[in-house]
Amino acid sequence: MKGLLLAGGHGTRLRPLTLTGNKHMLPIANKPMILYGLEHLMNAGVRDIGVVLGPIKEGVKELLGDGSKFGVRISYIDQPEPKGLAHAILISKGFLGDEPFVMYLGDNLLKQGAKPFLEAFEGGSSDCVVGAARVRDPSRYGVVVFDERGRVKRFVEKPKEPISDWALIGVYVFNHRIFDAIGRIRPSWRGELEITDAIQTLLKSGAKVDCRFVEGWWKDTGRPEDLLEANQLVLGEMDLRIEGEVEPGARITGNVGIGEGTKVREGAAIRGPAIIGRGCEIGPNAYIGPYTSIGDGAIVRNSEIENSIVMGGAEIDCGRRIVDSLIGSRAKVLSQERNLPKGLKLILGDMTYVGV
Ligand code: TTP
Repeated sequence: MKGLLLAGGHGTRLRPLTLTGNKHMLPIANKPMILYGLEHLMNAGVRDIGVVLGPIKEGVKELLGDGSKFGVRISYIDQPEPKGLAHAILISKGFLGDEPFVMYLGDNLLKQGAKPFLEAFEGGSSDCVVGAARVRDPSRYGVVVFDERGRVKRFVEKPKEPISDWALIGVYVFNHRIFDAIGRIRPSWRGELEITDAIQTLLKSGAKVDCRFVEGWWKDTGRPEDLLEANQLVLGEMDLRIEGEVEPGARITGNVGIGEGTKVREGAAIRGPAIIGRGCEIGPNAYIGPYTSIGDGAIVRNSEIENSIVMGGAEIDCGRRIVDSLIGSRAKVLSQERNLPKGLKLILGDMTYVGV
């Protein structure tokens, strides 16, 4: 069984963070998102993995290399334009051949991993296994519609009518029949070859499509609030350790990870679950609240921060409380209190969001 790990797309909903880097390199609990998908594939026994990359490749190839440091073989497949998930499969035909494969969307996080879906495929006689999770806003997803006996009836992309609240998640297992189905669909109104349309075509052609319900949490990290929620879910389950230096008089409570070479100064308070990377400076006069990840080399002084992701090398020293925020690598949030004229002084990239 081969693996197809998708890391293309524009990630428009996460701009400006995705203007300078690949969305799948954004950290969740201080680990690039793409590594969660890679690990899920590895844990399911997949060793030959194709990574689909779009125009923004920054960091992915450097991180994954040829896969040898992870004990897998990685090939890269170029998708210059994000023309849809089914298009990503189509252009990977040379890599996939006629073998069954599992496609994993690199922006999805899934507690149970990919293994149950592969097992369902290998232990059954289906041509395709999909995963589904109940959602509150099905109009944002491809959905599975079931008949009155609970059998898969059809698949619809972003339904306008409330026909099902079971969304397709980002793990799919296919055999070679999917290529024929993709060959028979047309681009949707948004110009993409939709995987939902391909699976519907597959079903209509008489193929057997099996649907497995997700157990445990599942998160698709398309929007900033989704990244924060994924960060919460992962931090809530991690086993964290303190390796850095905690000065006497600093208070650490709950499940907190502190990386090597990090200094937590006297008077600082950290309340878990929270993870601080390597070589960071926390304090003096800093509070890191629950569900916060602080990347390597970041500095937090004279500030409070909670339920946020702060990326590597960022500096926060603003005398304020920051909540529910995403702070990019090497970004600075500094106080200008002593410099006149007073007021917010901003240098913001395109599509930046500031809530004051
Ligand atoms: P999406 O979330 O649909 O698209 P996106 O990541 O470009 O984000 P946005 O909608 O904010 O612009 O993509 C789902 C996953 O599939 C994600 O991991 C990117 C990947 N993908 C590809 O690799 N190729 C594609 O053509 C598309 C559409 C997505």
